[in-house]
Amino acid sequence: MAKAAVVYACTECGYSAGRWFGKCPGCSSFGTLVEEVTGPAAKARTEPKPLLRLVDVSAEEAQRIPTGVPELDRVLGGGLVPASLVLVGGEPGVGKSTLLLMALAAMSVDRRALLVTGEESVAQVKLRAERLGGAGRVEILAETELDVVCETLETERPDVCVIDSVQTLYSAELGSAPGSVAQVREAAARLLRVSKESGVATILVGHVTKDGSVAGPRVLEHLVDCVLQFEGDRYHAHRVLRAAKNRFGSTNELGVFEMTGAGLVGVPDPSEVFGRTVDGEPGAAVACALEGTRPILLEVQALVSQTDLAIPRRVATGVDPKRLAMIVAVLARHAGIALGQADVFVNVAGGVRIDEPGADLAVALAIASAARRVPVRPGTAAFGEIGLTGRLRPAAQAERRLEECAKLGLKQVVAPPDTPKRPGLRVAEAETLRAALRAGLETDVEASV
Ligand SMILES: Nc1ncnc2c1ncn2[C@@H]1O[C@H](COP(=O)(O)OP(=O)(O)OP(=O)(O)O)[C@@H](O)[C@H]1O
Ligand SMILES: [Mg+2]
Repeated sequence: MAKAAVVYACTECGYSAGRWFGKCPGCSSFGTLVEEVTGPAAKARTEPKPLLRLVDVSAEEAQRIPTGVPELDRVLGGGLVPASLVLVGGEPGVGKSTLLLMALAAMSVDRRALLVTGEESVAQVKLRAERLGGAGRVEILAETELDVVCETLETERPDVCVIDSVQTLYSAELGSAPGSVAQVREAAARLLRVSKESGVATILVGHVTKDGSVAGPRVLEHLVDCVLQFEGDRYHAHRVLRAAKNRFGSTNELGVFEMTGAGLVGVPDPSEVFGRTVDGEPGAAVACALEGTRPILLEVQALVSQTDLAIPRRVATGVDPKRLAMIVAVLARHAGIALGQADVFVNVAGGVRIDEPGADLAVALAIASAARRVPVRPGTAAFGEIGLTGRLRPAAQAERRLEECAKLGLKQVVAPPDTPKRPGLRVAEAETLRAALRAGLETDVEASV
């Protein structure tokens, strides 16, 4: 009989090798390689399968399932795709179980919805369901054995199944502990097969590691169709759901929720919550960023303080640190705002992260406003990408951004050239960063240079 092979796999990145290393050659973390026993590969005879023509596939199979939570539908790209595998990651306590139980309860009205719980007892889930306003006709299975879960899915064939969480599932065939890379990988691969073959839309809940990636296996992210990240501070009420990967929709969509005693409530108009600044306050500007198809107004705050450090700090929360460094450099070179002796802190309201270059101008405005202690003009928002030459580049979908600004009652928008006009809103077109600062700030900062 062939001997079971021993491999050493990294719990952080999934790298595996035939011998142990103190430092993982894959991700350079220390002490993360653990021993795993894998069984000998079984040789099975395979039969060829008949081929299918794509035109013959009935369109019904691709019909999406509305989850009953509009913000979740938006992030999924318009609902859950049948027989797909979705991974929802998030920090402990952020509200993953709450969100998915709400969705299951809504979907159970006209579909079979199953919750496989490995973390909480049936009674605990019941208590939560009561708090959230009823469990509908959700079916529940408290089980951690992978074989039993797969077997049940194959016989019961529910339309939707939530596995809370993938780290609690274990297969006795593998020697390693539940939650280890080998176990999680095996669980995901088996569930992928079951979900495709039995037509069960499966949602896996995954825990995240301290650096924010879904615990252990990056491999998981390749396996699944869709990776959703549930973010937000446990100590703040607002939560943001975004897609890190989506085979059936845009990854730029954003869902915003508020955690209340009765569960997660969708925030259909996040601009109202995140896009308000106090007039006359230096260091705050409103960005009109575009998240997927949705324009959203976000308050960007900046603090500039004198420093004695040889290398001044550039601290960005919600903004890419590299972009912040670039904006600071362009401000110094092209707008006469030197920050070589100052620490710069930038923060985006509500724990939202902006990935879009269209928010550059608002970040620059906030920093310039903080550095010169001159407030941004009241009722002003800004968008536009800043080039390294100090010139503003047009931002995508300007009309939709302007529409959002008008909806919130703003008076002026500082924008790149060739931005379309809109009645009721003053569009201050600026070719360069210098001109944009002049249009956006209350007094001309160049006068105080
Ligand atoms: N009675 C309540 N009133 C208001 N909020 C509550 C109440 N009970 C729980 N919560 C909120 O629900 C959150 C926990 O939600 P949930 O259990 O869905 O998180 P989770 O992401 O599944 O966590 P874990 O990773 O530990 O399973 C808590 O952080 C808390 O904010
Ligand atoms: Mg949970």
